[in-house]
Amino acid sequence: MLKATNITKTYSSKKGSYMHTALHPFNLQVAKGEFVGIMGPSGSGKSTLLNILATIDQPSSGTVELDGILTKQLNDKELALFRRKRLGFIFQDFHLLDTLNVRENILLPLVLEKSSLQDMEKRLQEMAVMLGIQDILEKRTYELSGGQQQRTAAARAMIHDPDLILADEPTGNLDSASAKSLMEALAALNEQQERTILMVTHDPVAASYCKRIVFIRDGQTFTEIYKGEQRQAFFQKILHVLSVLGGSIDDISPARH
Ligand SMILES: Nc1ncnc2c1ncn2[C@@H]1O[C@H](COP(=O)(O)OP(=O)(O)OP(=O)(O)O)[C@@H](O)[C@H]1O
Ligand SMILES: [Mg+2]
Repeated sequence: MLKATNITKTYSSKKGSYMHTALHPFNLQVAKGEFVGIMGPSGSGKSTLLNILATIDQPSSGTVELDGILTKQLNDKELALFRRKRLGFIFQDFHLLDTLNVRENILLPLVLEKSSLQDMEKRLQEMAVMLGIQDILEKRTYELSGGQQQRTAAARAMIHDPDLILADEPTGNLDSASAKSLMEALAALNEQQERTILMVTHDPVAASYCKRIVFIRDGQTFTEIYKGEQRQAFFQKILHVLSVLGGSIDDISPARH
């Protein structure tokens, strides 16, 4: 469904005195219904990769294809529409509008689509139940905990039924209990509704909810691991790869299982 082929990214200063290759020929394929984590040390190219997949940034070379659409063939207007219809975003700092309540925040992508009220309400109820926010729909965002805000943001990212959900450190600003409930909700949405999710994270606990982790080092794939049956065992495997990989080990808090 998502196919990034030989993508590279080189950053250079205007005068050309500085050049940095953030991604070497990088390949990634994600099938419908996958839940993929991207991990790697700081500066390894994770955000660069995510921005390219999100069509926010262009690769220096290589191609990104989503459902057979080559994104580099789209002009700016088509790209904006592509992002709005086919992608859903979850950010570290939630990005909710604080002048709107939870219901209005979630419905925002559908308002842009001019969906029918009945259809909107049905989808809203469905998402709210899955994310455990059905009792706070009328609250304003400043009345919510961080966890509630992020689950609201997750509902907004999915309500228009995007092909791919991209999340950049979604648990970065959450305490461990809120992170756990967000990840459980994402895993359930992935399982039960076949939502395709790609998530960048430093947090091995959050990563253990994914089905596959791609580890990046120096702009290249370092290794890939798949979850078996047990999340605990996968968590241990992730810790092991991180220790071999180096760099991001500081981010691990051993208390959070
Ligand atoms: N706009 C830019 N101009 C120049 N260099 C950049 C730019 N953006 C990123 N880089 C460089 O590219 C490399 C990869 O950066 P990137 O932000 O993708 O790393 P990351 O894996 O997301 O790191 P972190 O975990 O700290 O968020 C880094 O060396 C960074 O300094
Ligand atoms: Mg980053």
